[in-house]
Amino acid sequence: MATDRYMVVIKQFKGESMKRFKESTILIIGGGYVGLTAAGCFAEIGHSIHLVEKDPDRLAMLSMGEIPIYEPDLDRIYSKALSRGRIQLHQSLEEGLFEAEVVLLCVGTPPMPSGDPNLTIIAAAARQVARCATKDTYVVVKSTVPPGTCEALELICHDSARDNVAVSVLSNPEFLREGQSVYDFMNPDRVVVGGEGEALLKVASLYPDEMELLTLDRRGAELVKYASNAFLAVKVSFANEVAALCETLGTEAHRVLKGVGMDSRIGGDFLNPGIGWGGSCLPKDTSGMVAISRSLGLNSLVVDGAIEANEVTRGRVVDRLSRVNGGLEGAKVALLGLSFKAGTDDTRDSPALYLAQQLTLAGAVVVGYDPMAKLNQSQEKSIAKRAISIDEAVDGADIVVIGASWSQFSELSPEELLRKMAGVVVFDGVGVLDLDRYAQAGFVAMGVGRGHQDRFKPIIWRPLSWTIDDSPLVRGDVA
Ligand SMILES: NC(=O)c1ccc[n+]([C@@H]2O[C@H](COP(=O)([O-])OP(=O)(O)OC[C@H]3O[C@@H](n4cnc5c(N)ncnc54)[C@H](O)[C@@H]3O)[C@@H](O)[C@H]2O)c1
Repeated sequence: MATDRYMVVIKQFKGESMKRFKESTILIIGGGYVGLTAAGCFAEIGHSIHLVEKDPDRLAMLSMGEIPIYEPDLDRIYSKALSRGRIQLHQSLEEGLFEAEVVLLCVGTPPMPSGDPNLTIIAAAARQVARCATKDTYVVVKSTVPPGTCEALELICHDSARDNVAVSVLSNPEFLREGQSVYDFMNPDRVVVGGEGEALLKVASLYPDEMELLTLDRRGAELVKYASNAFLAVKVSFANEVAALCETLGTEAHRVLKGVGMDSRIGGDFLNPGIGWGGSCLPKDTSGMVAISRSLGLNSLVVDGAIEANEVTRGRVVDRLSRVNGGLEGAKVALLGLSFKAGTDDTRDSPALYLAQQLTLAGAVVVGYDPMAKLNQSQEKSIAKRAISIDEAVDGADIVVIGASWSQFSELSPEELLRKMAGVVVFDGVGVLDLDRYAQAGFVAMGVGRGHQDRFKPIIWRPLSWTIDDSPLVRGDVA
């Protein structure tokens, strides 16, 4: 079925001398990570953009050419597009809607306590588009939504639109990674579009011909996004499970997982062990996938397992630090890296901040440092103090923990660090330090997936020891 649809698209473009891409006018609703990246990148490749952002503070910044988020390269392409008049900003959508050929919904779908995504923001945006539309309109959902949402939104639009206006809703999930969103948008592994007919062709035509296109039905396209993120989460949870095994065996998880990932059937990406996965997407989309399966009466044993394993991983670090330090009460911990990963200011569900909370609960005094992270008020409370420099954070620290892989942390000198600290423990939660160098400098150097081999205690598995006991040859040798 999917192949047939794809062939329809290919044939259609062949009829137009193989050219898929057409410059268009696009209205983007939501100026967050996804909406701003789409605005900047689509403008860069030749489209005219109307961007609607309802938050007046964000809009004011954007009007001045400033980007309210940290995302490498985005400020450059955004201000270029703004100065060329390729992006026009609006606080309400009526202004840009008339000219738009396609409307992209890029608003948030945050998780609710049940794990289900909150779809009220996107439903309100779709309804607003339908109410204001004066001509037939294609609405494209870039936000991550459960399968069936496009159909439901289309019904909402149908009820809200004028009698002579048809609103078609399509799925075009976004796969960009924060910290490299511009690169990912411009170099996607695939562009997925769910829909059919003219609407599908129109959405496909927004993307350059070189980008590989997968077309399918709307529910399938919506599910590609959840299934991709769930699989990535499973991969990281698996890597962390192997890492725990390596710690006990006294071998190197990074090398072991490199060996695993060199198998082309497996691939090396997302096999880096750490302090657990987090961020704005993996936790939300795994719990979303579980909720979707549950609501359809199905199990999600693999994804459930990945979530549970992640909780175990997140809890292990505090235990290990407490053991090595002889407890954490009153210990000063310098936590370097607070955002959910390096390269972004996003702290949504940050594993480092979760660790800060756990350390604080265990009695430690956590001083955090991050070059970019934007903490909200409740996150500020998870640390005793936010230092303005690495030096300030590590001054007098008993333990240094690396919580995100900013390059400046891997450039630290172990000897200098040791001089500034009161203690000798360093814990690399993200695999960026050369721990052998740290150990040589006098540190108790710990990392995820690194244990100490005890060569005086060889591992003899029971079945193997029985073989030895029963073997006359071995007995003879001993005698
Ligand atoms: N952040 C990522 O890395 C990423 C990657 C792929 C997909 N997604 C998905 O894309 C969606 C958006 O994610 P995000 O991280 O960009 O969210 P975000 O919270 O950073 O941005 C959403 C923006 O939409 C604005 N907004 C909300 N309702 C509006 C309305 N009616 N009119 C105008 N503006 C409105 C908000 O003020 C906010 O600025 C989510 O569903 C997310 O799961 C995110």
